[in-house]
Amino acid sequence: MTILVTGGAGFIGSNFVLDWLAQSEEHVVNLDKLTYAGNLENLQSLQGHCGHFFVRGDIVDGALVQRLLGEFRPRAIVHFAAESHVDRSIHGPADFIDTNIGGTFSLLEAVRAYWTGLESGDGARFRFLHVSTDEVYGTLGPDDPPFSETTAYAPNSPYAASKAASDHLVRAYHHTYGLPTVTTNCSNNYGPFQFPEKLIPLAISNALQGKPLPVYGDGKQVRDWLYVGDHCAAIRTVLERGRLGETYNIGGNAEKMNLDVVRTLCATLDAARPRTNGTYADLITFVKDRPGHDRRYAIDATKIRSELGWTPAESFDTGLAKTVRWYLDNAEWVAHVQSGDYQNWIEQNYGAR
Ligand code: NAD
Ligand code: TYD
Repeated sequence: MTILVTGGAGFIGSNFVLDWLAQSEEHVVNLDKLTYAGNLENLQSLQGHCGHFFVRGDIVDGALVQRLLGEFRPRAIVHFAAESHVDRSIHGPADFIDTNIGGTFSLLEAVRAYWTGLESGDGARFRFLHVSTDEVYGTLGPDDPPFSETTAYAPNSPYAASKAASDHLVRAYHHTYGLPTVTTNCSNNYGPFQFPEKLIPLAISNALQGKPLPVYGDGKQVRDWLYVGDHCAAIRTVLERGRLGETYNIGGNAEKMNLDVVRTLCATLDAARPRTNGTYADLITFVKDRPGHDRRYAIDATKIRSELGWTPAESFDTGLAKTVRWYLDNAEWVAHVQSGDYQNWIEQNYGAR
């Protein structure tokens, strides 16, 4: 048996593939375009693993996806591939529209054709799991209840709008064609292999280089943080037991202000690798706010907990401690990302295809 994962060389996708192959005999076909965010070094430990088949390609390319589906006959698709960084979506939204909306549409079309051709038992067992974000719900006031699966969509950034559109397409393919879909909407993740443009890995990497730690605006924006391994476990749970056509919110029940996140990080680093003069918090620098910056996200994860029995294993403190340890132990990974060396390697190995 095989599953097809899209975006499996990115942050969450690579964690998912590594966890999957550590726990299952089932093979993974990993389709990834290897944009700036895709990094095969994340998957280095799988070199020579007969259960992992990597394909460099674009989800927009329907013919390629159809060929892969015909060749590998997966029993499920787990769809991570996306442009994922809000700040990039503000500076250049076009790629977000192409991949998150156009790519999801092409993928759904190819999958629909494949699924329609399956024998009835295989068709009934088939799953399309769409990985999405809590950002589709927009922003909360300080006293608002957390996002539930019935909260109205109100996306505020081009990234959030493109993910919201993709969620709607997935919903429509279930409603109209009966495609067996499930969608997950997760809060902010952190952990190993996260590209150092997002808050936590950027702050760790800057701190270790003695650079300023940029905090947008007043730093009082709130995010609900989840360790990536817990997100991967939730996705496996929903894939196994989620009800068709449903959406499941996933969160860590760990609402934190950005400034507190950075301060906690600094304290963790002070203990693990003290600076020669001063503390890491001395590097905190308030910078101009992001336009349209959502003030607060929070997830009500009651549905996935009560229906499927999933709860996070890590608290924010244990997850952050693991994450800081990983970045300290993997300075070479960060250096390759920042120097662009990982992309040179990709071009040498995949550029001519
Ligand atoms: P990421 O940016 O680290 O990785 C995205 C991966 O998708 C990369 O490997 C990239 O090469 C690949 N990709 C991009 N465009 C592609 C295309 N057209 N065809 C094939 N592959 C393509 O993102 P991430 O943080 O790992 O997020 C993965 C998914 O999870 C996304 O759908 C994102 O919206 C969602 N999500 C992320 C978070 C978070 O905190 N990071 C939270 C909730 C949901
Ligand atoms: P980010 O990691 O980009 O995730 P998202 O925008 O998807 O929530 O940012 C998390 C929070 O941290 C968000 O409120 C923006 C803020 N932030 C900073 O204050 N400084 C930074 O350098 C970055 C990258 C983010």
